[in-house]
Amino acid sequence: MEIKVNLNKRSDRTYKIQIGRKDFSSLKKLIPQKFAPDKCIVVTDSNVKRIYNSEIKAVFLSSKEHRSFVITIPAGEKSKSQKVRDKLEREIIKLNPSRQSLLIAFGGGVVGDIAGFLASTILRGIKYIQVPTTIISQVDSSVGGKTGINLPESKNLIGTIYQPAHVQIDIDFIQTLPEEEYFNGLAEIVKSFIIADEKAFGYLEKNINGLLKRNPQTLQYCIKQSVGIKSKIVEQDENETGLRKILNFGHTVGHAIEACSNYRVKHGFAVAEGILVEAQISNQLGKLSENDLQRIKNILEKFGLSKNIRRKYDFNSIWKKILFDKKKNKNGVGFSLISKIGKCEYNILVERYVVKSAYNK
Ligand SMILES: NC(=O)c1ccc[n+]([C@@H]2O[C@H](COP(=O)([O-])OP(=O)(O)OC[C@H]3O[C@@H](n4cnc5c(N)ncnc54)[C@H](O)[C@@H]3O)[C@@H](O)[C@H]2O)c1
Repeated sequence: MEIKVNLNKRSDRTYKIQIGRKDFSSLKKLIPQKFAPDKCIVVTDSNVKRIYNSEIKAVFLSSKEHRSFVITIPAGEKSKSQKVRDKLEREIIKLNPSRQSLLIAFGGGVVGDIAGFLASTILRGIKYIQVPTTIISQVDSSVGGKTGINLPESKNLIGTIYQPAHVQIDIDFIQTLPEEEYFNGLAEIVKSFIIADEKAFGYLEKNINGLLKRNPQTLQYCIKQSVGIKSKIVEQDENETGLRKILNFGHTVGHAIEACSNYRVKHGFAVAEGILVEAQISNQLGKLSENDLQRIKNILEKFGLSKNIRRKYDFNSIWKKILFDKKKNKNGVGFSLISKIGKCEYNILVERYVVKSAYNK
């Protein structure tokens, strides 16, 4: 299965997202055929390296066409920092890369974001490939070209929009994900169906068990649909001046919860909570039916994503974080809100008292 991302119809920026099972090894042929790099620099993290060391050797390090190097960063969000960025930059520069060198981000969203960021700045930009290994990175961070690192003040404050040259999604990587990371990722799949695909949402409702058991066919359908949704949106609005904002459904409140928890609450769990509150706002504004609201609540509950985490954080602290994150005008804050499952609008001003009442519901 292949999805093409056409950006402004410029062929040099168009790339393919290859989605399949047991597909990872095809990179061994694809890299020399398609990119003919002088060298490959693989960036991965300590967990992924430990689990997939033999695959890394077989696919990247055994190539006869070019030399390959593997650089490993510590696993976890802390690695998306200026310190790790500097260290990684130095290590890459020591390998003497040229404009023909290829960077490969092999791992979750942390590896993808920092490696993509370096690819966009080293020698003013070299090609990179995303090989995402978590649900979040397969359906979200590897698609759309947002790269970056965190600062102590907040997440993703430094970054670029720099598209990969290719994305290789192998669904089978998901089988080794720890339980918490798996459910954390499901939240982004649920979100993408809520904003843009009622049929896929119906599929989710009928295939809850398949997803709970990580059935490969069910996963493949969900990941493929989510990637399709995101790439269509990115094609129309790469720089998030309009439509791309609908991807932020659930994220206005979700990001505030993440920030209030000092990032101890994982992104997907915070977004799930944000989805509940923001769907509630839509319902209170008379946009979303009671039936659709209930369907959303049910699905999040079935995936263990409805944990009432927000009760730990009082609304005043959440509102402060929302204001830090978002442009506001005197009438309120701009939200992306759904009018039904499968349809989302953006830049909808919502007043504080409405957000407060939905948050405390
Ligand atoms: N660029 C974007 O558009 C975008 C979108 C969404 C999220 N993000 C960013 O992505 C990051 C979150 O991504 P994530 O959830 O993938 O985090 P992550 O990269 O930290 O991966 C989560 C954990 O899973 C481990 N792991 C990765 N693949 C594995 C596998 N196949 N088997 C076992 N363990 C595996 C990692 O070592 C890590 O411990 C955040 O920094 C977030 O800001 C970026």
